[in-house]
Amino acid sequence: MIAPSILSADFANLERELKDIATAGADWVHVDVMDGHFVPNLTIGIPVVESLKKVSPLPLDVHLMIEKPERFIEGFIKAGSDYLTIHVESTDKPLEVLRKIRALGAKPGITLRPGTPLDSILPFLNEVDLVLVMTVEPGFGGQSFMMDQVEKMKFLKEERTRRGLKYLIEVDGGVNEKTVGFCKDADVLVAGSYVFRHDYKKAIQTLKS
Ligand code: DX5
Ligand code: ZN
Repeated sequence: MIAPSILSADFANLERELKDIATAGADWVHVDVMDGHFVPNLTIGIPVVESLKKVSPLPLDVHLMIEKPERFIEGFIKAGSDYLTIHVESTDKPLEVLRKIRALGAKPGITLRPGTPLDSILPFLNEVDLVLVMTVEPGFGGQSFMMDQVEKMKFLKEERTRRGLKYLIEVDGGVNEKTVGFCKDADVLVAGSYVFRHDYKKAIQTLKS
C-alpha cells in the first residue's frame, strides 16, 4: 500500500490534494504531526485532522511526533485518525498509551527514531496494528533514505512470523523510485516529496510496481 505524506502537499488545497492522490491510486493518507519539541518543526494539529477527515476518501494514518502524546490521543482519535502511531521515545508509558488508543477505537502504531534500537519496541509488538520504521530523522520531508535502517524491516517481518502476529510494517522517509527496492519487507510505503513532486499517478504506480 502507498500512503502519501501530505507534509509535501499544497497546504492551501488539502481537499483537492486528498482527492487527487486517491484518484491516483493511494491507499492511505499519511499525516505528520509535529510539535516543535519532539522534533524541530511544527506542522498540523487536531482541528486540521478533523477537517481532513470530513473530505478524505482515504484512511488517515496519523504519525505523532510530539512529546507526551498521551495528552492528545483522545483528541486525535475523535478527530478521525484511523491509525495513530506514537514514538517510543516520546512517552514514559508506551504500553498504556497504545492500549488507550485501541480502547478509544483507533488502530495503534509504534515507531522509533533511526538511532533507537529495535529492542525498545519489541515489548509492544503484540499490542500494535502497525510498526513504522523511520528511514530519515523525523522532522522534515525531502531527506535521504538511511540504508542502515533496512535491516529493521527484515527483522520485524521475521519476528512477525515467529510470534504469529499481524502488524503491518510501514516505512517512512526518503522513499522514491530508487530506494523502494530496499523496502520489499514493508507493507505500507510512505512517500511525501516523491509523490507530490511528480505526476501522482505515475509516482504511485512506480512505487507499487
Ligand atoms: C518525516 C515524516 C515523513 C516525511 C516523509 O518526519 O515522518 O512522513 O513527510 O517525506 P519524504 O517522503 O519526502 O522523505
Ligand atoms: Zn511520517
